[in-house]
Amino acid sequence: MTIQENTIQRFPFGIPLSWYQVAFSDELEPGEVRRLHAFGRNLVMFRGEDGTAGVLDAYCPHLGAHLGEGGEVAGNDLECPFHGWRWHRDGHCTHVPYAKRIPSGARATAYPVCERFGMIFAWFHPRGEPPLYDLPEIPEWRSPGWCADWEHREIELTTHPQEIAENGPDWRHLDKVHDMQMAENDFVFEPDGYGYRWYLGGQVEMGESTLQGVNYGLGLSTFRQGGVHDAIVLTTVTPLEIDRLKFRLSMLSRAPEEEISKQFDYHWAFAAPDFRIWEHKIHRKQPLLCEEDGPIARFRGWAAQFY
Ligand code: FES
Ligand SMILES: [Fe+2]
Repeated sequence: MTIQENTIQRFPFGIPLSWYQVAFSDELEPGEVRRLHAFGRNLVMFRGEDGTAGVLDAYCPHLGAHLGEGGEVAGNDLECPFHGWRWHRDGHCTHVPYAKRIPSGARATAYPVCERFGMIFAWFHPRGEPPLYDLPEIPEWRSPGWCADWEHREIELTTHPQEIAENGPDWRHLDKVHDMQMAENDFVFEPDGYGYRWYLGGQVEMGESTLQGVNYGLGLSTFRQGGVHDAIVLTTVTPLEIDRLKFRLSMLSRAPEEEISKQFDYHWAFAAPDFRIWEHKIHRKQPLLCEEDGPIARFRGWAAQFY
């Protein structure tokens, strides 16, 4: 191992383009402004009176005030606390209280926002390009028979989004880390544009169940569990810095109400043994693989499009 590999470059890539969850919908009321740190940047999110959320760079293009420190929602725009310039969620300046003319080219850096199934996502692209794929609908959310809202928990981890996404196609760790015995060739990996589908049928602690998942970019992974109690589990990761992220696990279930937190605890406990591995591993650009290691190389070919 070279010194560089060991001490400097745990991850040989930047922050990947993707939709990333920045909040749950109920964490941002109409008229509310909140500071946000993501993508290695200080940001601000706000919700206009029309209910639509926006995410902007935190520092006002005028003289650099932090829009999350005293900024207020004015109609659907965000008003800076310093001189009262107002910014639309698409970044353009809508109002300068003392100027006859808004300077041409007055723009704040804005991030496209997509709010779906009770979560707010912001689009990150390293070169500022517009979204390249769409987020799914989750029909189970707010559906009769399903629990009323997400059961969820989060943790900050010192790792990179690609490491977490690779954890699925790296199905050979399931036995060692998660105590999950897999039949031979049980993992199916199907790349599809900016997403991929996977399927596995294995023995899990709660009895025989089926798992099928769809990933959307490197920020959202979903899987549906059939068997004992139907559930849909979402994992979202949000890069805070290049080597630090927020990991959120969220679940909707059809289990009776008194079973739900137990079922959720099971899913969290299933994920938790990965945390220590993720926080300390490096990304091996040229891993030493054996024939039975599964679709890791195919996964990496797919993941290269996010940089
Ligand atoms: S710094 Fe924002 S309006 Fe002047
Ligand atoms: Fe894992």
